[in-house]
Amino acid sequence: MTKTPAFLLLATVLAATALPMWAQQPAAQAAPAATASAPAVPAASAPAAGASGLTAAPPQASSAEAAPGPAAATPAPSAPAAVAAATGKPDPAMGEQRFGSVCAACHGAGGNSGTPANPKLAQQHPDYIIKQLQEFKSGKRPNPIMQGFASQLSEQDMKNVAAYLGAQQAKPGFAKDKELVTIGEKLYRGGNQQRALPACAGCHSPNGAGIPAQYPRLSGQSADYTASQLVAFRDGIRKNSPQMAQIAAKLNDHEIRAVSDYIAGLR
Ligand code: HEC
Ligand code: HEC
Repeated sequence: MTKTPAFLLLATVLAATALPMWAQQPAAQAAPAATASAPAVPAASAPAAGASGLTAAPPQASSAEAAPGPAAATPAPSAPAAVAAATGKPDPAMGEQRFGSVCAACHGAGGNSGTPANPKLAQQHPDYIIKQLQEFKSGKRPNPIMQGFASQLSEQDMKNVAAYLGAQQAKPGFAKDKELVTIGEKLYRGGNQQRALPACAGCHSPNGAGIPAQYPRLSGQSADYTASQLVAFRDGIRKNSPQMAQIAAKLNDHEIRAVSDYIAGLR
């Protein structure tokens, strides 16, 4: 009688470790298809355009589309995570594993996303990433896609993934429109005194590298994503930074396009 439970226990342990490892693979591959069918095209496609066209992107992907990813990609809790959790130290190797199996489908290998609506995460400050993941999870930064994925992460998972991403090298981006870049550069570097608009460089640093831990890195980010966030701050959809909401409230659509294009080319 004692042999059977021992065998069952072993089988359970094997199932809990080995099986989900390969079970994750199809899930990670299925995710890009789900995104592709629900491109999170920001702003421009929204019908209720304001004076000059930019509106906050509505929650783009329905929860039905976002659901298969997180559900299918739930990895089994594993022993090393438990060890790291006990010490509370970030484990970038565990973070790499989680990121590669779940997040890279949308955010690109090493966090260098090639999809404009999905932000680049490589080289981002870990504290900023943890804050965003916590706020997606709590709904303070509402986003149906990321709420699903962030909800799958424990505090320790967030630390692990953030440590991994912070150590990745960001690939440079490119600005597209010379005229916009000129306007964007002026705004980014000097702000606008009459309108009490502070220079972006003051907080995000002149080259867009940001200042850990508070001010995120912006350089090389896709212009579509940056513009969508400025609109979301301005329209009160992204409510997790009163500071940025105040600044974005002073920007018109043309300035948002201009500064976003400039940021895409910053390095
Ligand atoms: C289905 C596609 C998809 C998957 C999978 C996905 N994300 Fe995201 N992620 C997005 C989108 C889209 C946004 C932009 C949300 C917004 O507009 O606010 C985003 C935003 C983020 C941000 C905020 C970045 C910033 O600069 O503020 C972080 C951090 C993030 N994701 C981390 C992750 C992690 C970690 C995982 C895996 C556990 C993951 N994402 C999985 C699509 C995805
Ligand atoms: C007073 C400091 C300050 C100034 C000036 C400032 N920002 Fe920010 N910005 C922040 C902080 C803090 C955050 C992080 C918000 C959060 O925690 O979610 C942020 C976040 C952002 C984000 C979101 C990044 C992401 O990955 O999602 C964008 C885009 C941005 N700022 C653009 C700008 C632009 C463009 C300007 C100039 C017009 C500007 N900021 C000026 C403090 C500042």
